[in-house]
Amino acid sequence: MIATVGPWARDKLDKLGRYLEYYTTVLKKQKWRTIYVDAFAGGGVAAVRKRPTTGVPLLDEVVDVEPDQVEFLDGSPRVALELNNPFSRYVFIEPDPKRVAELEQLVADYGDTRTINVLKMEAADGIRWVVGRNITKKTHRGVAFLDPFGACLEWESVEALAKLGMFEVVINFALNMAIQRMLPNDANIQQSWSDTLDRYFGTHAWFDEVYFRETGLFGDGVLKKRDDYSDRLLGLYRRRLESAFGFVSMPRLIRNTRNVPLYYLLWAGPHKKGQEGANYVLQIGEKLTKAQKQGTSVVAQ
Ligand SMILES: C[S@@+](CC[C@H](N)C(=O)[O-])C[C@H]1O[C@@H](n2cnc3c(N)ncnc32)[C@H](O)[C@@H]1O
Repeated sequence: MIATVGPWARDKLDKLGRYLEYYTTVLKKQKWRTIYVDAFAGGGVAAVRKRPTTGVPLLDEVVDVEPDQVEFLDGSPRVALELNNPFSRYVFIEPDPKRVAELEQLVADYGDTRTINVLKMEAADGIRWVVGRNITKKTHRGVAFLDPFGACLEWESVEALAKLGMFEVVINFALNMAIQRMLPNDANIQQSWSDTLDRYFGTHAWFDEVYFRETGLFGDGVLKKRDDYSDRLLGLYRRRLESAFGFVSMPRLIRNTRNVPLYYLLWAGPHKKGQEGANYVLQIGEKLTKAQKQGTSVVAQ
């Protein structure tokens, strides 16, 4: 049996690859050294289910299927290694020993032509390692791909990258897959989930974006979930990215094969040109609403 992800991983990797091609092409004649950080790297190969599994899961969770039910795709590390204009350095962060062994194989395959560090650790520690190197705006430019399965990306890590002033990030914002599941209608959230969301957003402001106290004749001051809480959470995260980095992209919604929303891809960075490239790439193949085209949807919140 092989652990697999859903076919929508193709869409994510396609957008990542296109953006990285754009980025490295724009920078190829510039003086800076370039660095690619894959903080939730996986193993270098994505085993994708040919058909949806029956019943659950419809979401992007790892499930086991028979080998003849999968096809293999280059995972994000290989997508980045195969660029026409490669980065000067690659940092792959991954705590899972089996996936680390696969990443070490990438070092064996690409090590002659690419400079690669494989860090067997959690993303937060790996990003601290990166930030602690002598990487400055004067000498470097970089992209970090932050692609957790759930809500284990910490805002502190995102902010640390932003503070260097030379990183752009491409983020899997796991709204529908992970975050919504932690938000019961009655606001009775497990403390550990509340703590996870505080770390994820870097603030407790997410709570008021999701819940309000119903007052009035029959309301009795009980906490209720807002109808538009998803848009509000996306808006909150995007505003935080914009204030940390300077620029944020339009969101790209990734759906499963039954058109159910799974997560958003978001870009943030310090340059308008990056934002233009990201907006262009992220809208490819997407049917935008009129409000999204005019940039008046969640961005304006
Ligand atoms: C969605 S997968 C990554 C897929 C990969 N980016 C790709 O597109 O091919 C998430 C990965 O994060 C790893 N992971 C889980 N918790 C982590 C953590 N705290 N820090 C870093 N990686 C973690 C998992 O082992 C898994 O390989």
